Amino acid sequence: MSTFFRGRHFITTEDFKRQQIDTLLDLSCELKTAFAHDQLTPWLLYKTVFMIFYDSSTRTRNSIEAGITQLGGHAHFLTPDRLQLTHGETPEDTAKVLSRFGHAIAIRACEYGKGNNYLNRVAEQSRVPVLNLQDDIYHPMQALADLMTIQERFGKDLRDLKVGISWAYADSHLKPLSVPQSQILLFARYGMDVTLAHPKGFELTPEIVAKAKENAANHGGKISISHDMDDAFNGADVVIPKNWGGFFAAPSLEEIGAKAKQHTDWICDERRMNLTNRGSIYMHALPADRGKEVVDSVIDGPHSVIYDEAENRLHTAKAVMALTIGGR
Ligand code: CP
Repeated sequence: MSTFFRGRHFITTEDFKRQQIDTLLDLSCELKTAFAHDQLTPWLLYKTVFMIFYDSSTRTRNSIEAGITQLGGHAHFLTPDRLQLTHGETPEDTAKVLSRFGHAIAIRACEYGKGNNYLNRVAEQSRVPVLNLQDDIYHPMQALADLMTIQERFGKDLRDLKVGISWAYADSHLKPLSVPQSQILLFARYGMDVTLAHPKGFELTPEIVAKAKENAANHGGKISISHDMDDAFNGADVVIPKNWGGFFAAPSLEEIGAKAKQHTDWICDERRMNLTNRGSIYMHALPADRGKEVVDSVIDGPHSVIYDEAENRLHTAKAVMALTIGGR
C-alpha cells in the first residue's frame, strides 16, 4: 500500500492507513480555518474534476463543485443522459477518454449490486484519481466528514466513545447501505464502541460487518448488533439514526417497503434522546425524512450537529481532492 496520496483513487477509506486518514482530517481542519478567514488556496489551479451523477445530490455535488472552485479548479456536472452512457458506452472507454481531458473522475452510482462495480471498472482504466461520491457499498466522503464532526466535539482520541448507529423508518425511497457501512468500518478503526441496531431483515452486508469487527479487534473498538433501537441510544455519546434499504429483507422492492412499514416506531424522538449521555450529539448525513426517521424537536434541537456535519463535507472533500489530485 502506497503511503502517498497523489494519483490514488478514493473509493473506500479501507484503502488508506489510519495515519493517512489523520492527515486528511488535519488538512480538512486547516482548510476549514482558512475558509473562515476567507483565505482560499489555489492548489489545484486549472484542474478539472468530471462529476458523473447517476443519482441526485445536494451536499455531495455542491461540496465537490464549490470545493474544486475554491482550490482554483473547475468541475463538470455530468449525468448519464449527458454522456454516451445511456447509449451503452462502457465504463472503460469513459474512463480512458475523461482521464485524458482532466484531473479526476468523481462518481455517484448507488444502484444496489452495480454502483461499486461501475466505479472499480472506471478506476481500473483511469489515469487520474477516481473519487467515490457514494456507491452501493461505500460513502467515504460522508464517513470522513462524520469523523471530523465527532472529533470536533469529543477530541482526537475517540477510544471507547459510545456511538449508536440505528436503522430508522422512512418510505421515500430505498436508501443505500453505504453510509452506515462506511461509518462502522471507519469508526471501528478509531476504537469507538459502536452499537448497530436494526430490525431483523435490515442487516448491513455481512462481509462489511465482519470487516468492521476485524477493524475493531485490531484497534480496541467494539461493534455490537441489536434488534432494539433503544440499545443504540442507551448511554450513547453519538447517535446516528438513519434509514437504509432492507436489501436482504425480501426479494422485491415492494416487499422490502412493506416490511419497513412494520417498523414505523423506529423513530428518533425525545424519549430516545433522553436515554443518551449528557452532551450527546445527534447526527444525520441528510436528507432526513422528518416525522419518520426523526422528530423536528430532535433534528432542530440542542443535540443536533447536522449542519456542522454537512459543512464538513466541503472541507473534507477539499482535503481529498487537494491530496489525490495535487499533493506529492
Ligand atoms: N449526505 C449526502 O451524501 O447528501 P447528498 O445525497 O445530498 O449528496
